[in-house]
Amino acid sequence: VISLRDILSESPEGSVSDMLSKFSCERDKDVESFLKEKAIVQEKKHISRTYLIFTTGSCTELLAYFTIAVSTMDVTGIVCSKEMQKKMNINRGLAQSYLLGQLGKCDGSPKGLGKFAVEQATDRIIAANLNVGCRVIRVDCKQSLVKYYEGIGFMFARHNYNDDLVQMVRIIGTQTAS
Ligand SMILES: CC(C)(COP(=O)(O)OP(=O)(O)OC[C@H]1O[C@@H](n2cnc3c(N)ncnc32)[C@H](O)[C@@H]1OP(=O)(O)O)[C@@H](O)C(=O)NCCC(=O)NCCS
Repeated sequence: VISLRDILSESPEGSVSDMLSKFSCERDKDVESFLKEKAIVQEKKHISRTYLIFTTGSCTELLAYFTIAVSTMDVTGIVCSKEMQKKMNINRGLAQSYLLGQLGKCDGSPKGLGKFAVEQATDRIIAANLNVGCRVIRVDCKQSLVKYYEGIGFMFARHNYNDDLVQMVRIIGTQTAS
């Protein structure tokens, strides 16, 4: 797992763009286009941090990536338990959160790699939590992936403004589901 920031510090931006342009994710074209068109821009603006997962060995191949960022969450209409809401430290209708903004595997990558990517993202978020606080991890996903995220410890919180994504949360320090 290598950070895009580190790769950019060692290689010309053009060659990094070329490498990212080979990433293909037929299942979700937004996930593909973010990596190709926005990841470097957002990295340079300090909006988000992207991490790339490669095969090991001499012939390295990009298998998957994830992007994390800090994001404020409007909790209007939140439905998760009162205990969960208390842990979210809601203040004036807002909660601070670490957003798992992007997650995706390249076509043909092995099953379970996404879960590994979420674990890697969590490790990095825990490091940020130890340094600056905030214990909410959030993901905004399609309805079709709600069960997947529930299976790795996230809970339904609310729908987003446009009502096209489900906002799911997990509290750092609580047990994750297997
Ligand atoms: C989501 C993802 C990272 C999970 O990777 P993983 O942990 O290795 O798990 P799998 O690929 O086996 O996917 C888990 C299940 O979700 C389903 N799934 C994956 N992406 C999906 C999508 N975009 N829409 C609907 N279902 C999806 C898979 O078919 C699988 O279902 P199954 O268990 O019944 O076979 C990976 O499937 C992926 O890259 N999907 C495309 C991009 C995407 O949707 N990213 C999430 C954005 S919030």
